[in-house]
Amino acid sequence: MLDIKITRTTTPKEKPAPGQKLGFGKIFTDHMFIMNYTEGQGWHDPRIEPFRNISLSPAAMVYHYGQEMFEGLKAYKNPNGDVYLFRPDMNAKRTNNTNDRLVIPRLPVEDFVQAVSTVVDVDRDWIPTEPGTSLYIRPFIIATDEFLGVAPSKTYQFIVILSPSGAYYESGLAPVGIWIEDEYVRAVRGGIGFAKTGGNYAASLIAQQKAHDAGFSQVLWLDGVERKYIEEVGAMNIFFKIAGKVVTPALNGSILPGITRDSTIQLCKAWGYEVEERKISAEELLQAHADGTLEEVFGTGTAAVISPVGKLRYQDDVLTIQDGATGPLSLKLYETITGIQLGILPDENGWRVKVGK
Ligand code: PLP
Ligand code: COI
Repeated sequence: MLDIKITRTTTPKEKPAPGQKLGFGKIFTDHMFIMNYTEGQGWHDPRIEPFRNISLSPAAMVYHYGQEMFEGLKAYKNPNGDVYLFRPDMNAKRTNNTNDRLVIPRLPVEDFVQAVSTVVDVDRDWIPTEPGTSLYIRPFIIATDEFLGVAPSKTYQFIVILSPSGAYYESGLAPVGIWIEDEYVRAVRGGIGFAKTGGNYAASLIAQQKAHDAGFSQVLWLDGVERKYIEEVGAMNIFFKIAGKVVTPALNGSILPGITRDSTIQLCKAWGYEVEERKISAEELLQAHADGTLEEVFGTGTAAVISPVGKLRYQDDVLTIQDGATGPLSLKLYETITGIQLGILPDENGWRVKVGK
C-alpha cells in the first residue's frame, strides 16, 4: 500500500460547463499524482499535488533518447454518482511489459491501481457524464537523470494526469476512413511495437499526416518485413468480420496488446462468434470485399472505444464497408462495452473497479 500524501489546490480551476464540447485530451483537472524513483531506494514519495508544470533539467534523459512510457485508461461516472475504472490491472501489467522492454523499473500492479484510483477520487467532480464522455487517465513514466550518455536512467518520475474528454474522433460513432500505409512502417519484430512508448507514435506521424492530407482519419499499419499483413491502427487495434467470423491480427510482438481488443475477443466468443487471431493480408481483405464477405471493420481502443471503419484505402483501391454505415456487431460491442464501463450493464467478467466510497 502506498502512503499517498495529498495536497489539495487552493485555487480550483473552472470545470467545463455541462454540454460544453470537450474534445479529447485538451482539458486537465486540478490535481495529479507523482512518485519518484531513485536507484537504490526504489519508488518513493507518492503524492497528489495541484496540477502544475514540472521542472526538469534540459539534460534530462527523456528529452534526448526517449526513455519513457505511457498508459491510457478511463474513469466513468454512472447516474448514481458511482465512479468506475475499467480493467486497470491490465494497464498496470502492460506498464510492466513496457517497462521491461525500455529498462524502466517495474511498478507493483497494486501501486499503479491505487495511484490511479486515488487521484481519480480526488478529482471525481471533474468526471463528465454526458453520453460519450469520460475522464481520460494518462499515467506515464519519464527518465529524469541529468546525463547525455546513452544508458538507462537511475531516476524516474511516475505521473498520472486526468483529462475530461469526449470522443477521440470528431465523428464519434460514425464510421471513419482508414489508410493502409504501404511506404512507412511502425514496428518490426524484436523492436518496441508491443510497448506503449512515445517513440512508436513519433515514428507514426509522417504517415498520419499523409493519410490526413488524403482525407483519411488514421493509418492502418502493415507488418514491417513483408509489408503484406495487417497489424493495427495508429491508436487502436483492428477487427474484421469476414463471412460471419471475427478476425483480428495475432499478437506477434509488433502490435500493442490492447485491453479493448482483449475485451472484444472475450465478448464475441461469449456471444457465440468464432474468433480467429491470425495473420491477415491486405490482399485477403480485397478478396473478401470483392466476394461480398467483408461484413464489418472496426477499431478497438480506450480512447477510440469501438470505432467502425467505413472506408479502407489500399494502394489504388478504396473499399466502402457496410455502405459506410455502422455495422450491427460494432454497435452491439460499443453499447455493451460502454454499458459495462458506466456501470449500467452487469459486469459478468469482473472488469469494473469502483473508485472511492
Ligand atoms: N494500438 C495502439 C497503437 C494504441 O495506441 C492503442 C491505444 O491505447 C491501442 C492499440 C488500443 O489499446 P487499448 O484497448 O488498451 O486502449
Ligand atoms: C488510448 O486509447 O488510451 C491511447 O493511448 C491512444 C492514444 C494514442 C490517444
